[in-house]
Amino acid sequence: MPVFHTQKALQIETKIALNQSKKIGFVPTMGALHQGHLSLLEESLSENEITVLSIFVNPTQFNNADDLKKYPRTLEKDVALVKKLNKNILIYAPCVTDIYEGHTISASFDYDGLENQMEGKHRPGHFDGVGTIVKKLFDIVKPTNAYFGEKDFQQLQIIRKLVAKHKIPVNVIACEIYRETSGLAMSSRNERLSEKARKESKLIYKILLQAKDKFMVKSAQEVTQFVEREFKKHKNFTLEYFDIADEETLLTCKRKIKSKNYRGFIAVFIENIRLIDNISLK
Ligand code: PAF
Repeated sequence: MPVFHTQKALQIETKIALNQSKKIGFVPTMGALHQGHLSLLEESLSENEITVLSIFVNPTQFNNADDLKKYPRTLEKDVALVKKLNKNILIYAPCVTDIYEGHTISASFDYDGLENQMEGKHRPGHFDGVGTIVKKLFDIVKPTNAYFGEKDFQQLQIIRKLVAKHKIPVNVIACEIYRETSGLAMSSRNERLSEKARKESKLIYKILLQAKDKFMVKSAQEVTQFVEREFKKHKNFTLEYFDIADEETLLTCKRKIKSKNYRGFIAVFIENIRLIDNISLK
């Protein structure tokens, strides 16, 4: 199973594919792979001749040093999982120097305001870090199609904006949220939850489903207040935000407009671990 630690080594392989006009599918990740990541890989395998997976915990997108330190790093396990799925997937697992060449800093991006909502408000600099790494990775891999999960819906919209503004020739493909049987959205951070907290975290999706039902008959403000009240009843959780926003602009819904699609977005702490999720309210 090929694991490349430098862009040079990876590009020897991808160059051959590009010269033969083969389609390259790309799944960027920070590792600690789970079924959600594997479903992105499966989609890429079915639509492209070559699939590249990157595993890189990108320091510039962490606004909290402790979060970066504690982020799970499980390369050997990840490689074994991928190998079971398909031995031909090219894994790019660089070190920080291979990516940042001694300048581990973000570029600044203007995403027309998408960066000022939700995650952007609560994680200053996060989307500059995401834009920096994704742009660098696109440049290294030169994919035809790139696959992103809808769990990070704001990230997905920001990457679409990045691609449009910088005229990057790649199709950004959105993949549905992959959930555990309890309903908890799959995330590498779930690995850090105790068994008890993991069980309790099914509450997040349960409340999102209730919010969706209520949004059919109630205003966005009433639904938001409902979610806030529900989390106050559960002392193990600290709600950071719940926001009902327009899928395109990510602006908070003040008054429902029929032609718009809305989503409920949530960030919540349990055992000091920050989990995010979202649900379409269509
Ligand atoms: O979604 C992630 O895992 C990361 O934000 C990404 C896109 C791999 C960039 O580091």
